[in-house]
Amino acid sequence: MGKYDDDFFGGKRPWSVIKDRVLRDYMNVYLAKVNTRGQHIVLIDAYAGPGVFQDGSNGSPIIICTAAEKFAKNNYSAFFFNIRQDFHSQLETALKNSGFNSAHAFKTNSLKTINQLPQILKDNTVFLYLDPFGLKGCGYDQLEPFLKRNSKYSTEIVLTMCMPAVHRMAAFHAVKRGEINEKTKKYHERLTTVFGGDYWKDILYQENVDAETKEFQLIDAYLSKSAQFLPFTGYCPVRQKSDSRIKYFMVFVSGHPDAMVLMNDIMHKAYFSQMHRADFQGTLFEELDWRDMPLTDDRSEQKLNALIKELVSKYPGETRENIWLQVVKSNFMKYERKFYRSLLKNMADKSQIVYQVDPSTGRRNENSKLYPV
Ligand SMILES: C[S@@+](CC[C@H](N)C(=O)[O-])C[C@H]1O[C@@H](n2cnc3c(N)ncnc32)[C@H](O)[C@@H]1O
Repeated sequence: MGKYDDDFFGGKRPWSVIKDRVLRDYMNVYLAKVNTRGQHIVLIDAYAGPGVFQDGSNGSPIIICTAAEKFAKNNYSAFFFNIRQDFHSQLETALKNSGFNSAHAFKTNSLKTINQLPQILKDNTVFLYLDPFGLKGCGYDQLEPFLKRNSKYSTEIVLTMCMPAVHRMAAFHAVKRGEINEKTKKYHERLTTVFGGDYWKDILYQENVDAETKEFQLIDAYLSKSAQFLPFTGYCPVRQKSDSRIKYFMVFVSGHPDAMVLMNDIMHKAYFSQMHRADFQGTLFEELDWRDMPLTDDRSEQKLNALIKELVSKYPGETRENIWLQVVKSNFMKYERKFYRSLLKNMADKSQIVYQVDPSTGRRNENSKLYPV
């Protein structure tokens, strides 16, 4: 792992742009919101890294603290953990040089530390970020004590889950040939711990299902476990180009619907803008705005139009905002709020739906009610 760590921090991988953007954009809006709750905010980055990459770009601790200084100054504490002495020392220096006095770095093994934190952080707003190299550090066993915190206090978790490792450890072909050795058994035990059950077997050992479909099914199943406690969840695939395999999923779980609608737009923008850049670099389309590219069938305007009509018929008189939440729940990351709003206006202009004004302002806004025609 040492060599891998060193390579990793040599310079950012292009696809890390997605992860960093999501983290930065989410921290800004999240902190501005939770800072109004009146509780002290605790930010935990359990697999922190050195803070600054060798090419000078910022890692998660600096991204987190920059947002916290701007939106929650004097009302937050940030805790950064790392198992490696060299990264820990580099991070201490980076935090000190940036003047982040509310940030504290610890040299520790997070696998042994973080599940004890919820006992200490009883009445705080807590944000937990888990970005380990492998699977162990983002397992259900790590999350569970955080998921079970008192729901009076805000808990949000963002993690990255490495996909190639899942397939390697499941060892599909070896299992099909009946070649299960001690190492494979250990891997399988680890997968069961990480996913909080052995449902991963039914998913990963399906015949004639491609690897990516299995990955989406697995993340969905993993999130439906945590959704018993924190029901608003979603994820963004992270990959080099749109036709490359998924390197990891960036996943969030939250107790608040705002997190889901915010993450929807943040992940949509980070993913599709980076895929546009990676797919079209050096081609005619490079200079085009990613939003001007033709939409794929699964994200088409016609599909959203049909879904809106269906939801408005099912929930007549529901607000624009609540219908949007329903769209996001069933189609996470597919559409942006701006696109939804302009489509509503078009649909109302064509008399496909009734889009009322909010009587208290005389304008269309998030409280506007929608009806079928
Ligand atoms: C993917 S990197 C994190 C990168 C970081 N989020 C950033 O943006 O710079 C994972 C980090 O976790 C550290 N690590 C690995 N196992 C750990 C453990 N058990 N406890 C604490 N840190 C660990 C590694 O040394 C490495 O610095």
